[in-house]
Amino acid sequence: MSGATTHGTRAGSGVVQVTGELIATRRVGAYHHLTFVAPGLAELARPGQFVALAVGGPTSANLLRRCFSIHKVSPSGTYGGTVDVVVAAHGPGTTWITELRAHDEVDIVGPLGRAFPLPKEPVPCVLVGGGYGSAPLFWLAEALRERGCHVEMVLGAATESRLFGVVEARRHADGVTVTTDDGSAGTRGWVSDVLPDVIRRTGAAVVYGCGPMGMLRSITDVAAAEGAVAQVAVEESMACGVGVCMTCVMPVVGKDGTTRMVRSCVEGPVFRGDRVRWDAFSDGWCRVPDDAVGAPRAGGH
Ligand SMILES: Cc1cc2nc3c(=O)[nH]c(=O)nc-3n(C[C@H](O)[C@H](O)[C@H](O)COP(=O)(O)OP(=O)(O)OC[C@H]3O[C@@H](n4cnc5c(N)ncnc54)[C@H](O)[C@@H]3O)c2cc1C
Ligand code: FES
Repeated sequence: MSGATTHGTRAGSGVVQVTGELIATRRVGAYHHLTFVAPGLAELARPGQFVALAVGGPTSANLLRRCFSIHKVSPSGTYGGTVDVVVAAHGPGTTWITELRAHDEVDIVGPLGRAFPLPKEPVPCVLVGGGYGSAPLFWLAEALRERGCHVEMVLGAATESRLFGVVEARRHADGVTVTTDDGSAGTRGWVSDVLPDVIRRTGAAVVYGCGPMGMLRSITDVAAAEGAVAQVAVEESMACGVGVCMTCVMPVVGKDGTTRMVRSCVEGPVFRGDRVRWDAFSDGWCRVPDDAVGAPRAGGH
């Protein structure tokens, strides 16, 4: 078989459910880069959106889909539209995905979530990725450069094997800075250590980020201190990925200054960094701030 079949199901506005055939898989450092044929999905997708993959096969007890940022899409070609994802083996779902072989089929729903907003003017931008979080940024870099934006990338990870896309970054950006916690590649330290200089040197107006929550918080702080806007793609735990289960809610300040618990799968995953209530996150958990709409009252029922 040379191509995936669609179920013909529109899972929501601008979303399709397709049976994707795996046509290429390759190891990139600590990650697995997979290409699926996904007809109809590539045409709808924009940088920052994600896909939800069913895992474990048709008889699996793993009922929940697993979400992955879209690394890139190709609307047409020998196989029809394709979608690429970059996966780190973590638990049972991601391990199952990384063990797939060519021509295996996976049920894919996407594109999901809000994409990165693009600036109206051709302003300088810095794109910051942590680990596999850099995966959606190359496609974003392309879209920004098509609009005449100067694009620099900052890629960071704990160690060299956990960096993703350094070579690709050199093709997609006007400048690349690499950091690792252990100094095995680039500058020893965090992306937030080098970011102030990159923003100042480029005069960046927008900082885009994707990676762990702690990193997104730091780059939001740095961007604010340097007078830039941060747009960050968060990675809250998601169960349904399509706005039904409320697993992924997190506190975000609205335009009216009020904090509400919003679904990161539908209202996100991209948020303005300065709107996220980072103070509510600790140790991988997110609590409901006392001043959020609908927050439980002390002593109340
Ligand atoms: C928007 C988004 C983009 C992502 N992009 C990438 C990417 O590009 N590459 C990558 O490697 N990983 C990515 N991830 C992380 C990836 O989805 C998880 O690593 C993966 O789901 C882990 O699945 P697992 O079975 O291997 O691990 P496990 O930890 O065993 O399973 C995690 C799964 O359990 C479920 N779950 C977790 N917490 C709860 C809860 N509180 N209530 C109900 N269900 C819960 C969810 O379905 C979750 O996906 C992304 C996550 C999100 C939300
Ligand atoms: S993951 Fe179910 S509502 Fe967001």
